[in-house]
Amino acid sequence: MKLAIIGAGKVGGTLGAAWAQKAGHEIFFGSRDPRSDATQALIRKIGGKTQAGTPAEAAAFGEMIVLTTPWPATEAAIRSMGDLSGRIILDATNPLAMGPDGLSLEIGHNISAGEKVQTWAKAASVFKTLNTTGFRNMANPDFHGVKSVMFVAGDDTADKPKVIALVAALGFEVIDAGPLRSSRLLEAHAMLWIDLTINHGLGHDWAFALVRR
Ligand SMILES: NC(=O)c1ccc[n+]([C@@H]2O[C@H](COP(=O)([O-])OP(=O)(O)OC[C@H]3O[C@@H](n4cnc5c(N)ncnc54)[C@H](OP(=O)(O)O)[C@@H]3O)[C@@H](O)[C@H]2O)c1
Repeated sequence: MKLAIIGAGKVGGTLGAAWAQKAGHEIFFGSRDPRSDATQALIRKIGGKTQAGTPAEAAAFGEMIVLTTPWPATEAAIRSMGDLSGRIILDATNPLAMGPDGLSLEIGHNISAGEKVQTWAKAASVFKTLNTTGFRNMANPDFHGVKSVMFVAGDDTADKPKVIALVAALGFEVIDAGPLRSSRLLEAHAMLWIDLTINHGLGHDWAFALVRR
């Protein structure tokens, strides 16, 4: 599949490499500076048909668009892609901000980045996913044979199975978390992963998994 990844940083680069290597997907990074040394090195590292251009060029290429931009840059990145009506967008952003008590969700808990993305890309199918664990776990979600869990929230039930399959190709156990409104829960869940990682001694090398009776 042809995939557009907007942002070629830690999350974008990791996902691009994993989808190219594990599933043979063709990656087009949408970047502020596609000719930068860092982006060119990433393209060489992934190899194959990987390429980079403007976010608009990437969006024109991809069957699905994956947002991996810092939250403050996300609205501008979406607007720079033009009309996204009917397009499938995976939103991996977290609206993080430093507050008086440390890192927090800049927009609170009564709205979410996922829902804001939907207002900026009105007639697109937006899915919140790939935001609840660190980028290293996106490269390898397997913990001694146990898959770590990843959620997908989105309103478009017709396209959701395609998104779930794409995320599952990374090696996650994927759970449908319901409508896009559940982004509020997934972004808070991401905060828990970040807080445990940074402030409570867990380090980066752990993930949430699901167990059932
Ligand atoms: N780090 C994690 O483990 C993790 C996990 C889950 C979710 N997230 C979320 O995923 C998003 C990306 O995180 P990241 O850690 O991959 O960040 P990052 O390493 O800083 O990469 C972000 C990329 O976005 C692009 N970008 C576009 N506009 C930008 C601007 N105005 N300022 C800076 N960069 C801009 C840059 O790519 P170009 O230079 O190519 O334009 C940059 O490499 C964030 O919303 C974050 O909260 C992060």
